[in-house]
Amino acid sequence: MSDTVSGHLPRVIHDPAEWRAFCRSLRAYGGLGFVPTMGALHAGHLSLCRQAIVAGNANVVVSIFVNPTQFNDQADLAAYPRVLEADLHKLASVGVTAVFAPAYDGIYPDSYRFRMSEVELSRLYCGAHRPGHFDGVLTVVLKLLQLTGADAAYFGEKDYQQYMLVRDMAAAFFVPTAIVPCPIVREANGLAMSSRNERLSLTDRVAAGAFHRALVDGTSADQARQRLLAAGFEVDYVADIADAARGIRRRIAAIRFSGIRLIDNIGLTATGEATDV
Ligand code: PAF
Repeated sequence: MSDTVSGHLPRVIHDPAEWRAFCRSLRAYGGLGFVPTMGALHAGHLSLCRQAIVAGNANVVVSIFVNPTQFNDQADLAAYPRVLEADLHKLASVGVTAVFAPAYDGIYPDSYRFRMSEVELSRLYCGAHRPGHFDGVLTVVLKLLQLTGADAAYFGEKDYQQYMLVRDMAAAFFVPTAIVPCPIVREANGLAMSSRNERLSLTDRVAAGAFHRALVDGTSADQARQRLLAAGFEVDYVADIADAARGIRRRIAAIRFSGIRLIDNIGLTATGEATDV
């Protein structure tokens, strides 16, 4: 991917105080959209940036920070790809203005002494399998929202539980940034785009298309689970949940395949049929 569309790379800022001042200055030009990421960007991330641009924000900014507090598995943290230069070129191609790439001490001057916790939804599903994960996510997202002061922040629906928790936290703590959900972007075989897909062999990546198919074809969460097991996946959970704030239902799931943890979800009608395939 080249940066020739916009002609130059986004400005990179590492220091939190400088980032806060820069974002404040950008707001003088109109709406500010924000996309928080951990880097290793793919088409899903770029679609969040495009959605922020199409929404009419005068500037769109992105954070790239591999957040250690949300990893309960140190091997997973160590294996997480860090490819800032390549990410900057991708972001230039969609017209992103600036990137915040802080160091650990910049984001955690308190060494994680203070943290954000939610005590219901965060304990279920992904939270039950990754203790402490959502404390880390909510803490870093709150810090990033405070520093950026954007009008709207864009989150992918692939991480549906994360989206619900971030949205509800922002409401509970009167964060003025709108939390905007964005549709899942899929590979040709239905596999939801994820930085983790890069860690699957080509054969496994093709086979992993059965994950999405099982969610869509299963007539219940239990049947989807049976299909996943039959396809050779280890299943962390499959559950049909209600998102009361949006008046919708979704089937959410996490599996392990060749040592890689994958998550996905689909929309459901009131009677349990898949809606957004
Ligand atoms: O979804 C992610 O990439 C991360 O959980 C986030 C929201 C950037 C927080 O580190």
